Amino acid sequence: MKKVHIKSFGCQMNVYDGQRMADILGEQGFEETATPEGADLILLNTCHIRDRAVQKVYTELGKLRDIKNAQKAEGQDTRIVVAGCVAQAEGAEIQKRQPAVDLVVGPQAYHRLPELLEQARRARVVDTDLPIDDKFGHLPAPRPQVIRQRGISAFVTVQEGCDKFCAFCVVPYTRGAEFSRPVDQVMAEIERLAGAGVQDVTLIGQNVNAYHGEGPDGRVWGLARLMHRVADVPGINRIRYTTSHPRDMDDDLIAAHRDLAQVMPFLHLPVQAGSDRILAAMNRKHTADEYRRLIGRIREARPDIALSSDFIVGFPGESDADFEDTIRLVDEIGFASSYSFKYSSRPGTPASDFGDQVPSAVMDERLYRLQERIEHHRQAFNHAMVGRTIEILLERAGRHPGQLAGKSPYLQAVQIETQTNQIGDRVQVVIERAGSNSLFGRKADAEPAVQPSGAEASPRQGSAKEMAA
Ligand code: 5AD
Ligand code: SF4
Repeated sequence: MKKVHIKSFGCQMNVYDGQRMADILGEQGFEETATPEGADLILLNTCHIRDRAVQKVYTELGKLRDIKNAQKAEGQDTRIVVAGCVAQAEGAEIQKRQPAVDLVVGPQAYHRLPELLEQARRARVVDTDLPIDDKFGHLPAPRPQVIRQRGISAFVTVQEGCDKFCAFCVVPYTRGAEFSRPVDQVMAEIERLAGAGVQDVTLIGQNVNAYHGEGPDGRVWGLARLMHRVADVPGINRIRYTTSHPRDMDDDLIAAHRDLAQVMPFLHLPVQAGSDRILAAMNRKHTADEYRRLIGRIREARPDIALSSDFIVGFPGESDADFEDTIRLVDEIGFASSYSFKYSSRPGTPASDFGDQVPSAVMDERLYRLQERIEHHRQAFNHAMVGRTIEILLERAGRHPGQLAGKSPYLQAVQIETQTNQIGDRVQVVIERAGSNSLFGRKADAEPAVQPSGAEASPRQGSAKEMAA
């Protein structure tokens, strides 16, 4: 069998797209391999959101060229594909900078991978056509065995692209205009996943709560209505959605948090900044107080909800006072976790032409201070779990024999000792201790454990699995 190595950078949609490409290539006789060495096809699924993400791609391509040359010397042909948002944005420029690349394919053309690969045998190929030519209608469904290997949590793209045009963001240019998949198509995919053991689905889209897909009744359905349908699928116990824009949190969606037990009490709702002046310059189309009031309404509907956000520091024109507004908002809301970034000027976006760019050293200071506050609230949230009993969905083997690891409703990693459970079980767990990145607990019916000593050593924040909105 031929081997393909797929490496995805950036957001969850790239993870999803990577799996879809694996499914397409699976039909062409490729099996996935975990390392680029030995692969016949190496596919980089790239991210264009910040400059650093783009630099990473070129560094990675340099390493892949070396592998390609080394394999060639051994008589093995290796082809390199660049997919994703850098492919879309840079197109043929990629092959100019790195001639070892055989094929450049944008996010809306990857359903054509087999024919593009065929063409690429004869000449280098670039396909970055943007309109979604019913890409989703052309994707093969994964086999049950493949779904099982991927685990009991799955992402499902329901919406792609964005019409919001925040002044800093490349997404409307790389992923194109908003597109929502029809309800029936989404439901068929989720039913298939549930049939192969998936219990936890995250509906994804760059602006997922703007979902407006065609329903089976020929009408336009919003995200709340879709989630009611998803909640009816036997076996689907947990539903999340990401990433959302505050302007699209409508009453039905807020009510779904109250009415659907399967909808997890955790919401990623990026605000980006706390200053009205900066929010206006960012073209976010809402004020900080409107965001505060929105959070108030969501908490009324679902009092135990936890929130997370994205923040950008150093947007052009951001003063010390503007930044203080962001800190104040963070302290008021008390986010359970958040991602924060230095502003990165992106070619082609309105903000890249704004004057008054903030010096990098100032951005560094602000980022440091912001992350300190975010971390403070994250730790407070995690420590507040100690003594509480929460349902954990067990997802994988734990760190040590006899341990299993799972996720809380709030996306926290939780480790428990158990001899009698297996992956896929939902267990009531008393949280006994909060480490810096995981919680530790015992099953609600088990004897308290002897308190372990010593803290765990692990990185401060999770990897950037973020999407825009
Ligand atoms: N610079 C810095 N951060 C950005 N993001 C999007 N574009 C930029 C940029 N140009 C952040 C936003 C978004 C997250 C996915 O990435 O916070 O919500
Ligand atoms: Fe759209 Fe989100 Fe980018 Fe704004 S930040 S343009 S809402 S994808």
